[in-house]
Amino acid sequence: MKYDIKKLTLDEKIELLVGVDTWHTSSLNGKLRQIRMSDGPNGLRKEGDDGKIVSSTSMPTLSVVANTWNKELAYLDGQTIADDCVENDVDVLLAPGVNIKRTPLNGRNFEYFSEDPVLAGTLAKEYILGVQDKGVGTSLKHYCLNNREIDRIAISNECDERTLNEIYLKPFEIAIEANPWTVMCSYNPVNGVYMADNKEMLNDVLRDKLGFKGMVVSDWGAVKNGYKSVKANLSLRMPFIDFGVDEIKKGYEDGKITEQEIDEAVNYILELIEKVENSKKEISFTKDERHNNAVKIAEEGIVLLKNDGVLPLNKNKKYFINGDDSKSPIITGGGSAACKTDYKFKRLDLMLNEEGFNATSDQIIIRDDFVDYITCGHSSFKKAYESDGVILVINAPINAEAHDLESIKLYKRIEKVITETCKYNENVIVLLFAGSAIDMSGWIDKVKGVLLVGYAGEGVNEAIVNILTGKTNPSGKLSETFPLSLSDTPTGEDVDNLMVDRYKEGIFVGYRYYDMLKKDVLFPFGFGLSYSNFSYSDLEVKKLSETDYEVSYNITNNSDYDGKEVSEIYVKDVMASLSRPEKELKAFSKDLIKAHQTKRVTVKLDKKAFTYYLTAKHTWFLEEGYFEILVGGSSRCNFLKAKIYITPEEYDFSTHTVVKNGFWLYNL
Ligand code: GLC
Repeated sequence: MKYDIKKLTLDEKIELLVGVDTWHTSSLNGKLRQIRMSDGPNGLRKEGDDGKIVSSTSMPTLSVVANTWNKELAYLDGQTIADDCVENDVDVLLAPGVNIKRTPLNGRNFEYFSEDPVLAGTLAKEYILGVQDKGVGTSLKHYCLNNREIDRIAISNECDERTLNEIYLKPFEIAIEANPWTVMCSYNPVNGVYMADNKEMLNDVLRDKLGFKGMVVSDWGAVKNGYKSVKANLSLRMPFIDFGVDEIKKGYEDGKITEQEIDEAVNYILELIEKVENSKKEISFTKDERHNNAVKIAEEGIVLLKNDGVLPLNKNKKYFINGDDSKSPIITGGGSAACKTDYKFKRLDLMLNEEGFNATSDQIIIRDDFVDYITCGHSSFKKAYESDGVILVINAPINAEAHDLESIKLYKRIEKVITETCKYNENVIVLLFAGSAIDMSGWIDKVKGVLLVGYAGEGVNEAIVNILTGKTNPSGKLSETFPLSLSDTPTGEDVDNLMVDRYKEGIFVGYRYYDMLKKDVLFPFGFGLSYSNFSYSDLEVKKLSETDYEVSYNITNNSDYDGKEVSEIYVKDVMASLSRPEKELKAFSKDLIKAHQTKRVTVKLDKKAFTYYLTAKHTWFLEEGYFEILVGGSSRCNFLKAKIYITPEEYDFSTHTVVKNGFWLYNL
């Protein structure tokens, strides 16, 4: 290592352990390279020296990236944001967030990928590779159990060891395969111990079990006690706080922390500085190309949820656009992820006109009280009545950091806009700008089309127009379940704002929960429509070894449209001796299939597809027995099915050898 810790004094080492301002590490008066960090997950959010946010390319939020189910696009997303980082001398991007969407009320769901750990971890891994292949570091966050925003710095989130490993640590485990330069610890206590002080979680689990080799940085203000966090192997307290260094020094002087413990934490910072210095920074996209990347990802992340023959639009018909202002679309949620773009949006009706479609708009911006809409909206209703179809731009209650939602319904006045408009026109299409699942029960049966736009970045209007006109065949699929109502969700309406939030649903999060209870949902995890219709056939499962299988199947595009299809591979443990979900996503593929063509798709399943976490042994187990492999285009569909029988060898702990068929054990 270039930097020899022996050449640093104790004071210098302690100074390194605390940020010198909001975004920088200490340079020890020029002795070391200073590191600059910046948010955020859907675009660079750099505060300039004047405190103002510099403009950057506003990419789709990670919830929209997740709806693409496209590993290549997750990588491209990271590559694109990294260009802005290199251009602005940012060394570490504070992203991606992989916290599991346990409740649709969580204010930061827009910033996260999914309710499923495999989808979240797999796409996060690609995003990290995309950023770091440009010589910029990442910060995998928020480690861990930061699954809602209410009292996030106080409520202790508590779950059992099996749930922790199978659900909440799993996305970190998968994403760590990309070697993120840093991991950011979360604000909240986990099982009663603040994450910043939690040596078991920050060292024994994160490093020894999940294999993390980089540096741990606190969330901003998450450190409760400076020397305790250093003992827990958290290297960098952010941001600067005036007593930060003294607190560690006093801990050392009082014998609460040793120089060896300080050295261990400091070494991770020195290694990070070396990574920053040795990495080859590169820029490969122009500003326009970055914008086009934002469009490309938005196009594949927008999900067609309903289409009763109204999409794509028809050039011979007349459309009226209303609702919220399409000239200033909501493209991100609030908080540290909200970056600033200088991109100038165009109104959707004008963009459709440029494509040869007949669209007009009143652009009534729905005010807080409904009267505005009704009074100045009479002309709107008249126009709605005289049109062949109406397109409504609809904003759900905004998702934002530090705030959870109180409901998953649209505001009453917004629902009324939809239901009133449906009285005047039978072909209403809703463009839904929402950061997480929405209860549509009040209007879904009245409208003919729904596009879940999400918070889709600065390319959103081009993406919408390309899908509405049929230039792009929609291929997005839900990365979180849309329940029929909040009371149907595992956490229900209870805002558990006592000091402890017990994850009583255990491993049954998201579709795992609705499957277990055989509950109907509005739209299932993994669901999304296309202008094509795809059929699956000829499933074949090839055994490569006792725990490795090759799964192949045909997908046929029975339409005149070329289209991309996301195929999802679930595994069901038929004979498990303990309760397991009905099925669990273990692989997925996104493939372009030309009109009327058939493509044979092959994916691999390894031992991780079959194991469960056995708390009694504190590790993963593969139990002998039958497993079903389910292949389809959604988590609830007419699956192709195959059954396999696994007879894993038994592992003898005393001799650490595999002895005979029976239980099979591996650490990771
Ligand atoms: C915030 C967020 C974190 C962000 C950091 C810096 O509180 O929790 O995601 O990266 O502070 O803004």
